[in-house]
Amino acid sequence: MYTITLDEVNSTNLYAKENLNSMPDKTVIIAKRQSAGRGRLSRTWIDLGGENLFMSIILKPSSDFLPEYANLTQYLSVVLCRVLDEYGLTPCIKWPNDVQINGGKIAGILSETAMQGNLFKGIVLGIGVNVNAKKDDLKQIKDRAATALNIELDREYEDKKLFTEKLLNKFFENYDEFLKQGFKSIRDEYLKRTNFLGKAISVQLFNRTETGIGKSINDKGELILMNKDKELILTMGDIYYE
Ligand code: BTN
Repeated sequence: MYTITLDEVNSTNLYAKENLNSMPDKTVIIAKRQSAGRGRLSRTWIDLGGENLFMSIILKPSSDFLPEYANLTQYLSVVLCRVLDEYGLTPCIKWPNDVQINGGKIAGILSETAMQGNLFKGIVLGIGVNVNAKKDDLKQIKDRAATALNIELDREYEDKKLFTEKLLNKFFENYDEFLKQGFKSIRDEYLKRTNFLGKAISVQLFNRTETGIGKSINDKGELILMNKDKELILTMGDIYYE
């Protein structure tokens, strides 16, 4: 693993994709500031200052895309929860990969697949973590309740470098096993860490919203939603509580 640190970039994911061919497997790109952070479902990721984490990991596990790679975001959400546990916090996962503490989103994860024509070139796994934010600045995030590590710990400042090291070490600790086994290897833990099972939820998909009771997550990391007596299997989307 080797790390590139940039002072400022539009998006670490975009930078990683643009430079992917010249960068080896497991290159980590960290930017101090990010002016046009990309989020899931065409959203943006707001930069709340240089003491927050904006990072992308370039992964080139094989020359073909394997289905397991689609669950890397969920793997990273579990890894992040393990790190936050070490800080004495109680994080939980909102499917597919939002990590929340006390109802506030602390991190966002976005994976992008790099292709050259039909050829699979690699994965860019991006994560933004609010490590140090001011309560007032969190108000800039309008779509969701948000939080930050320092706020949850009731501290002025948290060491971003230490946090990043912990996150990367934990990520690579079980990465090979995850690649072999896929979502199955984390499913039990993922289920324990979720907060929406058995609850009435609505799930916003690209072009429609589905409502029902969150029933489970299958072996592929998909959400099983019970809509009356119909079982819907959802691959992507965003959960809202009823
Ligand atoms: C989301 O919750 O919508 C995902 C947000 C992902 C943000 C991170 S910040 C580092 C990396 N670079 C980006 O442009 N996006 C991801």
